[in-house]
Amino acid sequence: MLPPYRIKVVEPIPFLSAEERQLALAEAGYNPFNLRADQITIDLLSDSGTGATSAAQEAAAALGDESYAGARSWFRFRDEVRDLTGYPRILPVHQGRAGERILFSSLLKPGQICISNTHFDTTHANVELVGAEARDLPCPEALDLDSAEPFKGNIDLDALERTLTGPEGHRVGLVLMTITNNGLGAQPVSMANLAAVRELCRRHRVPFFLDAARFAENAWLVGQREPGYRDWTPRQIAAHAFQLADGCVVSLKKDGLSAIGGFIGLRDDDLHAVCEANLIATEGFSTYGGLAGHDLERLTQGLREVVDPAYLQARAASTARLAQMINDAGVDTVQPPGIHALYLNAGRLLPHLSPREFPGHALGCQLYLDGGIRCAELGSLYLGGMDDQHQLLTPAPFELVRLAIPRRVYTDTHFEYVAAVLADIAKDPERVRGYRVVSSPPLLRHFKVRLERIPAPGSAA
Ligand code: F0G
Repeated sequence: MLPPYRIKVVEPIPFLSAEERQLALAEAGYNPFNLRADQITIDLLSDSGTGATSAAQEAAAALGDESYAGARSWFRFRDEVRDLTGYPRILPVHQGRAGERILFSSLLKPGQICISNTHFDTTHANVELVGAEARDLPCPEALDLDSAEPFKGNIDLDALERTLTGPEGHRVGLVLMTITNNGLGAQPVSMANLAAVRELCRRHRVPFFLDAARFAENAWLVGQREPGYRDWTPRQIAAHAFQLADGCVVSLKKDGLSAIGGFIGLRDDDLHAVCEANLIATEGFSTYGGLAGHDLERLTQGLREVVDPAYLQARAASTARLAQMINDAGVDTVQPPGIHALYLNAGRLLPHLSPREFPGHALGCQLYLDGGIRCAELGSLYLGGMDDQHQLLTPAPFELVRLAIPRRVYTDTHFEYVAAVLADIAKDPERVRGYRVVSSPPLLRHFKVRLERIPAPGSAA
């Protein structure tokens, strides 16, 4: 369980007083996305682009070839990605959502449906921006947050088949499987589920793609949980997952172990030609796609390091230990724990707050106010339906808070601190106040929404 590395370069973290945090959060409109990094002690907002790089990655970066076209760094990157995924056609992009935009605008037509186990938020937005519909069909097991089912990231195969064979079948333009399922508790997808999706897509002639931002973490969990894969390496399992699909779109800000990067992997030459033209017009030439040569070098090395079983085992164990500490403190998390994030059940911890008072957001704000910890709500503020006056009409199914775990960044001591702050909140949850929305953008609300605190009954506003 020992991480297979030691720390060589460190960065100071800020400590603010409770009064300073109070002021900072108020000025941020009670939206943690508006906080400055120097106002945060432990940043669990995202595991994306926030990891530590290795000495080997930084050494490789020095070899970055910044030629406009045909850079050596590109060929090293392309060969590594080809070798891992088996896709003959690789297009580099600066991050996942650029790949989504290029792929969906080349593949989907207005009025079509993109079906997923769960679309990530930008993925959802990019499907809808081309006039298609993003539809989630998570497996029913995902709806029981406490069960220990091993593959709650799976798609509901019956529902998928019903859609493909039903009256809307001809409208399905793409099936996109997100591994791991970031929108639903970081739960993995089994190889059996991917194989069944492949078979359904083949039969109905629908393209099947992976959104494989956390392909290595999914592979690790498959190796641990799915019969038949115990003797496979994470790299072999990941390669097999890629093999099952027609292509992929990947944010490398997660399992690329780098601050920036991504790629589209394809088998189809015609689709590649359309995507490539779009890439050149909007991202950059097809041998750099918005990335510098030194980025490509860090990514190539990162892709080798991320499938190291010792690294994945230590990371999974560290997240599981944090989950245990949090559960021991009396706060429930979505079970079983995944790898890149833990999801706190704020609805259960704060029953005195109705969904209209955004319990997940309230818990996230409290973690900042009490401990300088930043995280993201995944509840009614993010997913609920609202009217023009920002009143909640339809609550989300759950009120969750995501604690995302940057790679190779925090130690168990940092996590003990996080658990202690949560334990303090759990001792007196009723002091956590609710929030109401003051202003909100129409698309991707959670990034730019501003809120205010609802005063305690009887207190001055
Ligand atoms: N797909 C998934 C499953 C993701 O989690 C993300 C990003 C993307 C696509 C988009 O990739 O950020 O490189 O453009 N997830 C981050 C997160 C932002 O915090 O979960 P990107």
